[in-house]
Amino acid sequence: MCGIVAYIGPNDALPRLMDGLRRLEYRGYDSTGICLNTPEGLWVRKDIVRVDTLDQTLTDAPRANVGIAHTRWATHGGVTQANAHPHLDGPNRIAIVHNGIIENMAALKAHLIAEGVEFRSETDSEIIAHLIQQAYQGDPEAAFFVAIRQLRGTFGIAACFLDHPDVIIAARNGSPLVIGLGNGETILASDPQAIVSWTRRVVYLNDREVAIMTVDGARVRTLAGRAVDRADELLESDYSVAERGDEPHFMLKEIKEQSETVQRCLTGRIQVDEGNAKLGGLNMGPRELVAIRRVVNLGCGTSYHAGMVGAMAIEALARVPARAEIASEFRYRNPIVLPDALFFAVSQSGETIDTLGAVQEVKVKGGEVMGVVNVVGSTIARTCGQGVYVHSGPEVAVASTKAFTSQVTALLVFTLMLARTSNLSLEQGQRVARALLDAPARIAQYLANPGPIEQAAQAVVGARYVLFLGRGFSFPVALEGALKLKEIAYIPCEAYPAGEMKHGPIAMLEPGSPVVFVAPRDSQREKAISNMKEVQARGARVIAIHSEGDDEIASMAWLSIPVPQTEDWLSPLITVLPLQLLAYRAGVMLKRDIDKPRNLAKAVTVE
Ligand code: AGP
Repeated sequence: MCGIVAYIGPNDALPRLMDGLRRLEYRGYDSTGICLNTPEGLWVRKDIVRVDTLDQTLTDAPRANVGIAHTRWATHGGVTQANAHPHLDGPNRIAIVHNGIIENMAALKAHLIAEGVEFRSETDSEIIAHLIQQAYQGDPEAAFFVAIRQLRGTFGIAACFLDHPDVIIAARNGSPLVIGLGNGETILASDPQAIVSWTRRVVYLNDREVAIMTVDGARVRTLAGRAVDRADELLESDYSVAERGDEPHFMLKEIKEQSETVQRCLTGRIQVDEGNAKLGGLNMGPRELVAIRRVVNLGCGTSYHAGMVGAMAIEALARVPARAEIASEFRYRNPIVLPDALFFAVSQSGETIDTLGAVQEVKVKGGEVMGVVNVVGSTIARTCGQGVYVHSGPEVAVASTKAFTSQVTALLVFTLMLARTSNLSLEQGQRVARALLDAPARIAQYLANPGPIEQAAQAVVGARYVLFLGRGFSFPVALEGALKLKEIAYIPCEAYPAGEMKHGPIAMLEPGSPVVFVAPRDSQREKAISNMKEVQARGARVIAIHSEGDDEIASMAWLSIPVPQTEDWLSPLITVLPLQLLAYRAGVMLKRDIDKPRNLAKAVTVE
């Protein structure tokens, strides 16, 4: 999953390409590269550096009106300069950038090597440049089609040709591409954010389509060769770039924003008097809601954890069977999609390919799937067609924080709607509605007084292993806390339902091991206390996230982090906050790259 930008027009290509890359860096940041098409040759500069660093080395770049650029997240081949994109053909007359995975790489590469082609990288992508070159007999479009038709797998590709500076050719299959139509210039990118500074008139490429781009716009054909007549659209969303302000990292800024972002997700959606809620994007009234017999929340990583919380709340409040599923598993296990089930695709970016694949699988089987998405107009939002925008605003840090609490909030709003048609009386619905509306204040209350996070971070920073435990609604929170600590601080840790600990992971504990226990005052508190004692009996140090005023847990714990008391089903919105801060502080202490942790990317657009 990488970011692609390409430009053709009368202006200097370089600033447009670099501006685009900067906005696409969330898609991967292992290496950066650029190719400018000049009369003297294809000028390439690429390195295992971030976009800004490469930009500083480009003072000697020639002026060019045509170019392609790339920011990489490595799949095939290590993070090396040779594996960075763009890749050239043998004679250095064709350059390509690629996002995706070529699944028949081995066969194609063996064939090219047998033909005498010499490879300069270990990537699957380089194959594309050589395949085009082999088919090239003076017509770039014809050669491009011959090459692309041989590929299996996913791709977003842009190619430029030394002999044809009047054209850039692009293709899409599974990796998004959008074409910006300017005034006498055309820009291609993986995402509209890289285009909006220059134009808001766009054409989205669909899978198995090829675009032949010139200064006058783009001609689109299917891979089979049929001409496609696609009207352009006007981008209306706000694509403004988030500012870090005075905060040292986006992650901290985004953690601190959560009272406001949860408030935004609730605004206009809760009807206290009716004890109900409304999510306009679902287009569902009570008759449609009562027909729902099960709910399945699909997602990956943090979004999966939010889906788990949502599913538990649906079962607890609406008494409708609900579960969360990891999208990458769901899509390939020939899932049962019943007509009375409602599926939610939970995704911050709206671009996660595993979640998108799961959406497509539900649709193929005739199921109803709706998005719970942050990025407006993203692929998952457009593919679902209906759903809920969580409105947390741009989330820049790779580690998801505010999107999690907004996703949970959106699913809780839906829970209220569903529950009100079945299990909840007017008074009970009003109580749930009021509790939801109170959540932003409780979040602000905790963030104003976060407790001894620094001490907790010191305890985990030196540890060989950290165990996160929780029961019921606190188990997905424990999972999320462990994911954050791995992502940001690279500290080995795992999360377990607290009752499951004695079935294995307890063997990992030794005197002094930090165990982060999420134990608010809820229906499982007594059981959690018993598990806490089991941990302490092995000499482990309990860092307890517990409700304010719970002196029993506070006095048992090695370190006590009190949080405001809420309803059971609402507690994840609060108990997750100290875990986000813990990961953040541990990452800072270990001098990690907080907003762009190693090996990760903000949108995971490969399988
Ligand atoms: C969260 O901190 C991670 N970066 C990751 O697990 C993420 O939640 C996952 O890749 C899903 O992304 P999405 O919400 O954009 O679909």
